Amino acid sequence: KNISIIGVPMHLGQPLPGTDLGPDAIRHAGAVQKLKRLQHDVEDLGNIKIEFVSGEEQREENLLNLQDIIDSSTTLAKKTDDVLTAKRFPLLFGGDHSMAIGSLAGISKHYENLGVIWYDAHGDLNDSRTSPSGNIHGMPLAVSLGIGHKELTSIHGDQPKVKPENLVIIGARDLDPGEKELIRERGIRVYSMREVDELGMNAVIQKTIEYLKERTDGIHLSLDLDGLDPTETPGVGTPVYGGPSYRETRHAMELLHDADVITSAEFVEVNPLLDDKNKTGIVAANLISALFGETLK
Ligand code: ARG
Ligand code: MN
Ligand code: MN
Ligand code: MN
Repeated sequence: KNISIIGVPMHLGQPLPGTDLGPDAIRHAGAVQKLKRLQHDVEDLGNIKIEFVSGEEQREENLLNLQDIIDSSTTLAKKTDDVLTAKRFPLLFGGDHSMAIGSLAGISKHYENLGVIWYDAHGDLNDSRTSPSGNIHGMPLAVSLGIGHKELTSIHGDQPKVKPENLVIIGARDLDPGEKELIRERGIRVYSMREVDELGMNAVIQKTIEYLKERTDGIHLSLDLDGLDPTETPGVGTPVYGGPSYRETRHAMELLHDADVITSAEFVEVNPLLDDKNKTGIVAANLISALFGETLK
């Protein structure tokens, strides 16, 4: 594959320092070399600039750092759009999950029906009314569905970027009441940890592929490292116990690779300041190599 890596040192979507260092932590874990060793054509475009104009937290209408997020998301949307126009695979290293507002806005321009796999402990389906925190990293999926502040939903085009029926959430175990309501209302497919335990990760991924393959013309993987159990990925800002292991998640990446269905991907929420010896960056790098074809024998 022809892969273009974009580092997104996004930190504005939540209050903790450190996710701005996430992209470099994934690089230090050897992600770029691993991809090259797998014979891919890899270019690393470096990190985009995240504007923190005010230099201090701004909170209006329960939306932390709204204006700066609008600006960085606009930059990122253009960048992902350009990579796809150049017929290359956008691979994003993050960065808090609010970056998905920009990445999905840019990517969705290239598809009639973009599919999204959201591998996460959370739904990230809040808006300013339902959010318990006002942190925009808990809102990107809602924004991509066209729900939320107008200046966020209209980044890189007014239309909704993702249709609810083209979305699959995997690993959920901490959904807010408003998110549960939205999931029910829109009929969003969710494999929560309940289903992962009952069916097993192998079947969950197979069903996901089957479901998305027939209705979409491209599939974006948005993998939040807090989707995994924090015993193995402690370097995240909003850890939730009871998640899938590295082993299960790696297997998921292997299946996605074998099905050859993923057309763009992002690995987000890596926070080296909360991590232990870059465990979380290393897990991210290993999952990335599995997604791009690294086998165990
Ligand atoms: N649901 C919580 C909130 O909206 C937590 C969101 C965590 N999101 C994330 N991308 N880690 O504040
Ligand atoms: Mn999460
Ligand atoms: Mn998330
Ligand atoms: Mn396996």
